[in-house]
Parts: sequence; structure tokens; C-alpha cells
Amino acid sequence: MTEHAAFEIEERDAVYRAIATRRDVRRGFLDKPLPDDLIHRLLSAAHSAPSVGLMQPSRFILVRDHGIRRAVHAAFLQANEQALATYAGERREQYASLKLEAILEAPQNLCVLSNLQSERGHQLGRHTMPETAIYSTVCAIQNLWLAARAEGVGVGWVSILDPARLGEILHIPANVVPVGYLCLGYVDRFATEPELERYGWEIRIPLEQVVSYDIYRPEHEPRNAEATKP
Ligand SMILES: Cc1cc2nc3c(=O)[nH]c(=O)nc-3n(C[C@H](O)[C@H](O)[C@H](O)COP(=O)(O)O)c2cc1C
Repeated sequence: MTEHAAFEIEERDAVYRAIATRRDVRRGFLDKPLPDDLIHRLLSAAHSAPSVGLMQPSRFILVRDHGIRRAVHAAFLQANEQALATYAGERREQYASLKLEAILEAPQNLCVLSNLQSERGHQLGRHTMPETAIYSTVCAIQNLWLAARAEGVGVGWVSILDPARLGEILHIPANVVPVGYLCLGYVDRFATEPELERYGWEIRIPLEQVVSYDIYRPEHEPRNAEATKP
């Protein structure tokens, strides 16, 4: 079976629109549960992602139990406290003021994991780059993130968690790695810029600064917001 190569213009624009207007969302979730069929569509989008050797290593835990969510939230608070301690001065104050998760407010939590020892795919593509199993799961998360945007569902990725602690809470075996802990829910609107940009933590860099020709050019390496201040 084959499909026509290019999309119709409106379909193509819709894909780019989802990509351009996707945001990491951690506030403003509506108090409205996500219907099961919608969750199924989002998980199908994730499960359709490319994977190394067709390994399909991604696994999904829909976290609904409030006790478990509270435990994950407590783990976040602990990890966030440790992260805060690594900053000083103005940065520290700024970090402390950021909202970096929505574990308890979002109607749905989802942990996306990668089974590194799945035998599927017969090791194709992983001999020299075993980390491609995790890359495959990142692709799955991005698919879900874009599908969620089209559905009016905000997604916030929480990585301020100790994976070992998360593993204890969610009973994750050693061969399975938690890649993303996601907070999901309907939102009214999506911000036009990343929240970290709006609150002055970091700014986006133009595409031209990250493209080079033929060889890598370290002199083009973009600096962070402080370094680029006049
Ligand atoms: C791997 C990964 C981990 C992230 N972890 C966090 C996190 O722990 N807390 C948070 O608030 N945002 C987190 N984010 C969201 C980023 O801050 C966000 O993607 C970035 O600021 C750009 O904003 P945008 O996604 O709205 O374009 C994470 C994003 C990625 C890709």
C-alpha cells in the first residue's frame, strides 16, 4: 500500500501549525477529564513513532491514583530543592519563582518509559548506539505532544525527578528507563512563547545560529542569555 507523497496545502499547514504552536504547559489546565478515546488517540500517535530497528521500546503508564501522584509530586519537590541549591543570587530567586510541573493539578499524568532490553528489532541500529532505544521513546513523546496540541490538550514534561525514586514509586524494573513524566489536560489557549522565555530564564535562538555547512563550527555555538547581554 502507498499514499500520495505531499499533503494538501491545508493539511500541510496544519502540521506546521501544530509544530510551531506546541508549548510546554504547566498551568491553566481545565478541570475536565480527558476522555478515554482521546487518550487512546494520543497513545496511538506515540506508538506510531519511528523506533530503532522497529524496536518499539516505549511503554506507557497512565498514572491516575492520587496517592501515587502525591508521591511523585513529593519526589519532584525534593529534586527541585536540590536543583535550586545549585543556583545563586538572582538566578536562584528566578528559579524559585518558576512553575516547573503540574503533577497534582493536571487531570492526567503519564509516565513514558523505554524498555532497553526488549529483544524486538534484533539489535538493528543499536550495535554502536544503544542509546537509540531512548531516542526512539523521545520520538514517541514528541508525536504525542504534537497530537495533543491539535486536540487542544496541553502537555508539560517534568524531568526534575530522581529516576531511581520514580522507579520505586511506579515499580519500574531496572531494564526499563523512565524517559518522560508528563502532565496532560485540556487548556483554553496556548501561549505564543515558551514560558521560560516569558519569565526571562532563557531566550530562543534563531535557526541560522544552529546550522552550519560541511563541518561543525564551534565558533557559531550559541551562548546563553547572560553571555549574550550587551
Ligand atoms: C526533555 C525535556 C525535559 C523537560 N523538563 C521540564 C521540566 O522538568 N520542567 C519544566 O517546567 N519544563 C520542562 N521541559 C519543557 C521545556 O522547558 C520547554 O520545552 C522549553 O522551555 C521550550 O518551551 P516550549 O516547549 O513551550 O516551546 C522539558 C522539555 C524537554 C524536551
